[in-house]
Amino acid sequence: MLPREKLDPLPDRFILQPPVFYPVVPYVTTIFGGLHAGKMVMLQGAVPMDARRFQVDFQCGCSLQPQPDIAIHFNPRFHTSKPHVICNTLHNGRWKAEARWPNLALQRGARFLILFLFGNEEVKVSVNGQHFLHYPYRLPLSRVDTLGIFGDIFVEAVGFLNINPFEEGEREYPVGHPFLLKSPRLTVPCSRAFPRGLWPGQVIVVRGLVLQEPKDFTLSLRDESAHTPVTLRASFVDRTLAWISPWGRKTPVLAPFLFYPQRFFEVLLLCQEGGLRLALNGQGLGATSLCQEALERLRELRISGSVQLFCIHY
Ligand code: GAL
Repeated sequence: MLPREKLDPLPDRFILQPPVFYPVVPYVTTIFGGLHAGKMVMLQGAVPMDARRFQVDFQCGCSLQPQPDIAIHFNPRFHTSKPHVICNTLHNGRWKAEARWPNLALQRGARFLILFLFGNEEVKVSVNGQHFLHYPYRLPLSRVDTLGIFGDIFVEAVGFLNINPFEEGEREYPVGHPFLLKSPRLTVPCSRAFPRGLWPGQVIVVRGLVLQEPKDFTLSLRDESAHTPVTLRASFVDRTLAWISPWGRKTPVLAPFLFYPQRFFEVLLLCQEGGLRLALNGQGLGATSLCQEALERLRELRISGSVQLFCIHY
């Protein structure tokens, strides 16, 4: 048998960014490999009937404080008598001159498909298959590594595509930028209470960065009697992700190990009848079973291990 290191693919070359389905907005994600000419971002969704505005930001980093530079801010506005799109660039906390496009092809209550096509000098945006605008870069595209979606928008899917699929091979899944948010509420180990338990339809989202020399990462749900019916543990020693039963029995999640040092991760747990569905970095990874009564008795989310957190949402 070959030694383990010979069998493992090189993570940085191997990972392709999976599409993200039905993300919770506000949604912030790392663009693996950053942006470069020849890449496309596809956004499929719908505009709520009462939408005022939404924005799609191609950001330089993902810190919350100070605000990161935004190379491309694409901002449809529906609340004026003439709906329009504003594009702009935020540099060192200051907006540059706004560019404005009337005749917005997006409508309240309607679904859409928006494509951002990144060229050498400018981004071209098409809406529902028609060219809509082009916006020349005011900051270098190479600084962009984060996509942020905010405001009144319902997102069905986000895709990351290459015009030339053969180019991607050598690009690196980028190192995450350190977060400047120093909220004590996000210090690990971290806990959140659910005073009324959980019920089907609820979603728990945890986003963060894996530390440089990680050992493990544990996410658990405790009930009112301090039992822990749900534990998800990533072990960096043997590179496995597993559900751990209250009696210590391990059920491995059969999928490529998607946690890497200094890289972004997003764990999503969707409560449903009979259990919890898991998605990691937008990829569905099955479910763990839990009866309705056990779900309702859950009172606390606990996170510990070798991670830095920037968002817990439920
Ligand atoms: C501001 C608005 C920002 C951003 C900016 C773009 O008025 O508050 O959210 O849209 O315009 O120029």
